Amino acid sequence: MTEQERKRAAAEAAVELVSPGMVVGLGHGSTARYALVKIAELLHARKLKNIVGIPCSAQVAREAGELGIPLGDLNDFPQVDLTIDGADEVDPQLNVIKGGGGAFLREKIVAQASRREIIVVDERKLSRVLGNHAPVPVEIVPFAWKAQVRFLEGLGARAELRRDRSGSPWVTDQGNWIVDCWFGPINDPRGLARALEGRAGVVEHGLFLGLATEVFVGTAQGVRLIEAPAK
Ligand code: A5P
Repeated sequence: MTEQERKRAAAEAAVELVSPGMVVGLGHGSTARYALVKIAELLHARKLKNIVGIPCSAQVAREAGELGIPLGDLNDFPQVDLTIDGADEVDPQLNVIKGGGGAFLREKIVAQASRREIIVVDERKLSRVLGNHAPVPVEIVPFAWKAQVRFLEGLGARAELRRDRSGSPWVTDQGNWIVDCWFGPINDPRGLARALEGRAGVVEHGLFLGLATEVFVGTAQGVRLIEAPAK
Protein backbone atom coordinates (compact mmCIF):
# COMPACT_ATOMS: atom_id res chain seq x y z
CA MET A 1 0.00 0.00 0.00
CA THR A 2 1.41 3.39 -0.95
CA GLU A 3 1.18 6.45 1.29
CA GLN A 4 -1.59 7.84 -0.95
CA GLU A 5 -3.54 4.59 -0.68
CA ARG A 6 -3.27 4.71 3.11
CA LYS A 7 -4.51 8.31 3.15
CA ARG A 8 -7.40 7.44 0.84
CA ALA A 9 -8.38 4.37 2.88
CA ALA A 10 -8.50 6.45 6.09
CA ALA A 11 -10.55 9.21 4.44
CA GLU A 12 -13.00 6.78 2.84
CA ALA A 13 -13.50 4.95 6.14
CA ALA A 14 -14.47 8.27 7.72
CA VAL A 15 -16.94 9.02 4.92
CA GLU A 16 -18.87 5.88 5.93
CA LEU A 17 -20.01 7.89 8.97
CA VAL A 18 -21.75 10.45 6.76
CA SER A 19 -25.48 9.85 6.43
CA PRO A 20 -28.31 11.65 4.59
CA GLY A 21 -29.38 14.99 6.04
CA MET A 22 -26.06 15.70 7.74
CA VAL A 23 -24.15 18.97 7.86
CA VAL A 24 -20.56 17.94 7.14
CA GLY A 25 -17.39 19.95 7.70
CA LEU A 26 -15.03 19.57 4.75
CA GLY A 27 -11.38 19.73 5.76
CA HIS A 28 -8.40 21.02 3.83
CA GLY A 29 -5.34 19.06 2.70
CA SER A 30 -4.42 16.05 0.60
CA THR A 31 -5.99 13.43 2.92
CA ALA A 32 -9.25 15.29 3.50
CA ARG A 33 -9.51 15.75 -0.28
CA TYR A 34 -10.01 12.00 -0.66
CA ALA A 35 -13.07 12.35 1.57
CA LEU A 36 -14.35 15.20 -0.60
CA VAL A 37 -14.02 13.09 -3.74
CA LYS A 38 -15.73 10.10 -2.09
CA ILE A 39 -18.63 12.24 -0.84
CA ALA A 40 -19.09 13.64 -4.35
CA GLU A 41 -19.02 10.13 -5.81
CA LEU A 42 -21.70 8.93 -3.36
CA LEU A 43 -23.87 11.97 -4.09
CA HIS A 44 -23.64 11.42 -7.84
CA ALA A 45 -24.46 7.73 -7.40
CA ARG A 46 -27.46 8.79 -5.21
CA LYS A 47 -26.13 6.64 -2.39
CA LEU A 48 -26.00 9.79 -0.28
CA LYS A 49 -28.35 12.75 -0.45
CA ASN A 50 -29.42 15.91 1.22
CA ILE A 51 -26.12 16.82 2.84
CA VAL A 52 -24.65 20.29 3.26
CA GLY A 53 -20.87 20.74 3.20
CA ILE A 54 -19.17 23.43 5.28
CA PRO A 55 -15.79 24.11 3.65
CA CYS A 56 -12.78 24.83 5.87
CA SER A 57 -11.01 27.01 3.28
CA ALA A 58 -11.60 29.02 0.13
CA GLN A 59 -9.75 26.33 -1.82
CA VAL A 60 -12.00 23.56 -0.46
CA ALA A 61 -15.08 25.68 -1.25
CA ARG A 62 -13.88 25.94 -4.86
CA GLU A 63 -13.04 22.24 -5.16
CA ALA A 64 -16.23 21.05 -3.47
CA GLY A 65 -18.27 23.36 -5.71
CA GLU A 66 -16.56 21.92 -8.79
CA LEU A 67 -17.36 18.41 -7.54
CA GLY A 68 -21.03 19.33 -7.15
CA ILE A 69 -21.24 19.12 -3.35
CA PRO A 70 -23.98 21.43 -1.97
CA LEU A 71 -22.36 23.99 0.31
CA GLY A 72 -23.45 26.20 3.18
CA ASP A 73 -21.79 28.23 5.90
CA LEU A 74 -21.80 28.31 9.66
CA ASN A 75 -24.08 31.34 9.77
CA ASP A 76 -26.86 29.29 8.22
CA PHE A 77 -25.80 25.91 9.66
CA PRO A 78 -24.21 26.65 13.05
CA GLN A 79 -24.24 23.01 14.20
CA VAL A 80 -22.05 20.67 12.17
CA ASP A 81 -22.77 16.96 12.60
CA LEU A 82 -19.28 15.83 11.75
CA THR A 83 -16.14 17.20 10.17
CA ILE A 84 -13.56 15.15 8.31
CA ASP A 85 -10.14 16.78 8.32
CA GLY A 86 -6.45 15.87 8.08
CA ALA A 87 -3.64 16.56 10.52
CA ASP A 88 0.12 16.98 10.62
CA GLU A 89 0.74 15.19 13.93
CA VAL A 90 -1.48 13.25 16.37
CA ASP A 91 -0.54 12.21 19.92
CA PRO A 92 -1.99 9.29 21.94
CA GLN A 93 -4.55 11.60 23.64
CA LEU A 94 -5.72 12.67 20.15
CA ASN A 95 -4.29 16.14 20.54
CA VAL A 96 -3.32 17.32 17.12
CA ILE A 97 -1.13 19.77 15.23
CA LYS A 98 -2.82 21.10 12.08
CA GLY A 99 -2.12 23.81 9.60
CA GLY A 100 0.49 22.51 7.17
CA GLY A 101 -1.94 23.70 4.50
CA GLY A 102 -2.43 27.05 6.21
CA ALA A 103 -6.19 26.71 6.77
CA PHE A 104 -6.14 26.04 10.53
CA LEU A 105 -8.11 29.11 11.66
CA ARG A 106 -11.19 28.15 9.64
CA GLU A 107 -10.53 24.48 10.41
CA LYS A 108 -10.61 25.22 14.13
CA ILE A 109 -13.77 27.33 13.86
CA VAL A 110 -15.50 24.48 12.03
CA ALA A 111 -14.08 21.88 14.47
CA GLN A 112 -15.42 23.82 17.46
CA ALA A 113 -18.85 23.91 15.81
CA SER A 114 -18.81 20.15 15.18
CA ARG A 115 -20.32 17.36 17.27
CA ARG A 116 -17.62 15.05 15.94
CA GLU A 117 -14.20 16.06 14.65
CA ILE A 118 -12.92 13.11 12.64
CA ILE A 119 -9.23 13.23 11.81
CA VAL A 120 -7.89 11.21 8.88
CA VAL A 121 -4.17 10.48 8.60
CA ASP A 122 -1.70 7.90 7.50
CA GLU A 123 0.38 6.27 10.22
CA ARG A 124 3.39 8.58 9.72
CA LYS A 125 1.41 11.29 11.52
CA LEU A 126 1.19 9.40 14.82
CA SER A 127 3.58 10.66 17.44
CA ARG A 128 4.25 10.05 21.11
CA VAL A 129 4.69 13.75 21.86
CA LEU A 130 3.46 16.65 19.71
CA GLY A 131 6.24 18.71 18.14
CA ASN A 132 8.43 15.73 17.32
CA HIS A 133 7.55 15.90 13.63
CA ALA A 134 5.61 19.01 12.74
CA PRO A 135 6.01 22.71 13.41
CA VAL A 136 3.15 24.55 15.13
CA PRO A 137 1.85 27.11 12.66
CA VAL A 138 0.85 30.45 14.16
CA GLU A 139 -1.36 32.86 12.20
CA ILE A 140 -0.43 36.48 12.92
CA VAL A 141 -1.53 39.85 11.67
CA PRO A 142 1.19 41.27 9.39
CA PHE A 143 1.56 44.42 11.54
CA ALA A 144 4.82 44.24 13.54
CA TRP A 145 5.39 40.65 12.43
CA LYS A 146 9.00 40.64 13.57
CA ALA A 147 7.83 41.33 17.13
CA GLN A 148 5.80 38.11 16.90
CA VAL A 149 8.80 36.15 15.62
CA ARG A 150 10.81 37.42 18.61
CA PHE A 151 7.98 36.46 20.97
CA LEU A 152 7.75 32.96 19.48
CA GLU A 153 11.52 32.52 19.70
CA GLY A 154 11.22 33.60 23.33
CA LEU A 155 8.85 30.65 23.86
CA GLY A 156 11.63 28.34 22.66
CA ALA A 157 10.74 27.95 18.98
CA ARG A 158 12.77 28.16 15.85
CA ALA A 159 10.34 30.47 14.12
CA GLU A 160 10.15 31.07 10.40
CA LEU A 161 7.76 33.23 8.41
CA ARG A 162 6.01 31.01 5.84
CA ARG A 163 6.68 32.21 2.30
CA ASP A 164 5.32 31.35 -1.13
CA ARG A 165 7.46 30.25 -4.09
CA SER A 166 8.25 33.86 -5.03
CA GLY A 167 9.58 34.50 -1.51
CA SER A 168 6.66 36.74 -0.49
CA PRO A 169 4.85 36.04 2.78
CA TRP A 170 2.25 33.29 2.37
CA VAL A 171 -1.19 34.89 2.87
CA THR A 172 -4.08 33.10 4.62
CA ASP A 173 -7.75 33.23 3.61
CA GLN A 174 -8.08 36.00 6.22
CA GLY A 175 -5.24 38.08 4.73
CA ASN A 176 -2.88 37.23 7.60
CA TRP A 177 0.59 35.65 7.67
CA ILE A 178 1.86 32.40 9.20
CA VAL A 179 4.94 31.76 11.32
CA ASP A 180 5.95 28.07 11.47
CA CYS A 181 7.36 27.24 14.90
CA TRP A 182 9.60 24.23 15.53
CA PHE A 183 9.48 23.65 19.28
CA GLY A 184 10.73 20.09 19.39
CA PRO A 185 8.80 17.86 21.83
CA ILE A 186 6.03 19.91 23.46
CA ASN A 187 5.58 18.59 26.98
CA ASP A 188 2.89 21.10 27.97
CA PRO A 189 0.73 21.76 24.90
CA ARG A 190 -2.01 23.42 26.96
CA GLY A 191 0.47 25.82 28.53
CA LEU A 192 1.87 26.65 25.10
CA ALA A 193 -1.63 27.18 23.70
CA ARG A 194 -2.43 29.56 26.58
CA ALA A 195 0.77 31.55 25.98
CA LEU A 196 -0.04 31.90 22.29
CA GLU A 197 -3.66 32.84 22.95
CA GLY A 198 -2.59 35.59 25.34
CA ARG A 199 -0.53 37.44 22.75
CA ALA A 200 -1.96 40.41 20.83
CA GLY A 201 -1.35 39.99 17.11
CA VAL A 202 -1.56 36.19 17.28
CA VAL A 203 -4.81 35.28 15.57
CA GLU A 204 -4.74 31.48 16.03
CA HIS A 205 -2.39 28.52 16.33
CA GLY A 206 -2.38 24.99 14.97
CA LEU A 207 -2.68 23.14 18.30
CA PHE A 208 -6.06 21.39 18.34
CA LEU A 209 -6.34 20.14 21.92
CA GLY A 210 -9.25 18.00 23.03
CA LEU A 211 -11.12 18.60 19.77
CA ALA A 212 -10.65 15.35 17.84
CA THR A 213 -13.25 12.73 18.71
CA GLU A 214 -11.98 9.96 16.42
CA VAL A 215 -8.89 9.38 14.32
CA PHE A 216 -8.85 7.07 11.32
CA VAL A 217 -5.30 5.92 10.63
CA GLY A 218 -4.35 4.39 7.30
CA THR A 219 -1.74 1.69 7.93
CA ALA A 220 -0.15 -1.05 5.84
CA GLN A 221 -2.47 -3.51 7.61
CA GLY A 222 -5.66 -1.51 6.98
CA VAL A 223 -7.49 1.35 8.68
CA ARG A 224 -7.28 1.65 12.45
CA LEU A 225 -9.82 3.68 14.44
CA ILE A 226 -8.69 5.45 17.60
CA GLU A 227 -11.40 7.07 19.73
CA ALA A 228 -10.92 9.86 22.23
CA PRO A 229 -11.65 8.88 25.85
CA ALA A 230 -15.15 9.94 26.94
CA LYS A 231 -15.15 13.46 28.48
C1 A5P B 1 -4.57 22.24 6.48
O1 A5P B 1 -4.44 23.52 6.99
C2 A5P B 1 -4.01 21.24 7.42
O2 A5P B 1 -4.48 21.33 8.71
C3 A5P B 1 -4.11 19.84 6.88
O3 A5P B 1 -5.29 19.23 7.31
C4 A5P B 1 -2.90 19.10 7.37
O4 A5P B 1 -1.78 19.86 7.02
C5 A5P B 1 -2.80 17.71 6.77
O5 A5P B 1 -2.61 17.77 5.40
P1 A5P B 1 -2.29 16.50 4.54
O6 A5P B 1 -3.47 15.61 4.63
O7 A5P B 1 -2.09 17.05 3.14
O8 A5P B 1 -1.05 15.88 5.07
